[in-house]
Amino acid sequence: MVNKVTVLGSLNVDTILKIKRLPQPGETMAMEAKKNAGGGKGSNQAVAASRLGAQTSFIGKVGNDENGRFMQEILTTAQVDTQYVSVSEDKATGQAFILLQASGENSIIIDGGSNQAITTDDIYQAQTKIEAADFLVTQFETPLESATLAFEIAKKAGVTTILNPAPAQEAPQTLLANVDLIAPNETEAEILTGIKVVDAQSQHQAAKKLQAKGVKNVIITLGSRGAYYLTADQKEGLVPAFKVQAVDTTAAGDTFLGALSSQLKPDFSNIEEAILFANQASALAVQKLGAVPSIPTFAEVSAQLNQ
Ligand code: RIB
Ligand code: NA
Repeated sequence: MVNKVTVLGSLNVDTILKIKRLPQPGETMAMEAKKNAGGGKGSNQAVAASRLGAQTSFIGKVGNDENGRFMQEILTTAQVDTQYVSVSEDKATGQAFILLQASGENSIIIDGGSNQAITTDDIYQAQTKIEAADFLVTQFETPLESATLAFEIAKKAGVTTILNPAPAQEAPQTLLANVDLIAPNETEAEILTGIKVVDAQSQHQAAKKLQAKGVKNVIITLGSRGAYYLTADQKEGLVPAFKVQAVDTTAAGDTFLGALSSQLKPDFSNIEEAILFANQASALAVQKLGAVPSIPTFAEVSAQLNQ
């Protein structure tokens, strides 16, 4: 069974500046290299879901510009349905400026542009695409109002909803009540719960608190430690990460999310297996430069898992 995944989210062109380390205030510094690549949390997750085997559709907005056409082309090449990618006439396509240090860590500055111009009207336009999906996935790089409406439509139609609350911000109760799976990293989990996630006890407490806010299932991604889950029926576990040398961690989380949504069964019965697959996919993504260019295919992930 192939999962049908609809992603509502952002499309950005990433400009990656490779630097030795972050500059100090007042310091001028030469970069080592510069590269443009497809990115944006939404499109990264959609490309990941599609490359990893899901039948994927996208709801988003680009500007009427070169960057917008570049991002549309990326989705099309990845076989993501772009019927509901609309074009803003007055806002430019979203951009991200990524400072990538030699350590593989990154700092990102976003210019939201057309991503912020998505309206509830765009969601109503795409209503049938939402209702026809097995999973609806979104993040926080597009307006909350449209995410809230999309999740409401999805839940009425029995679609399983996945929220990646990134970049970190608080989420309204009206949205959380319609979330079947929330997947924050440690920082995002702390912003949502006030609990600092540092060990087995705190990750459990943070997940319980998220459930108390109305979400049904929780996965907290823990970087090099792996991913912790707590399901609606209180099954929990930690799936360790694969140990690799990170070149660029950009889109590691997005690859995890897309991979997960391509493999998960809507009843969550295979959650451990799906997380293991997603861990392997993101371990491959961190070993390559750039967001979209680093997202692996199903064959690449399977080859690693079968070694
Ligand atoms: O999650 C990584 C993504 O965040 C980058 O591709 C960048 O566009 C920002 O949106
Ligand atoms: Na990468």
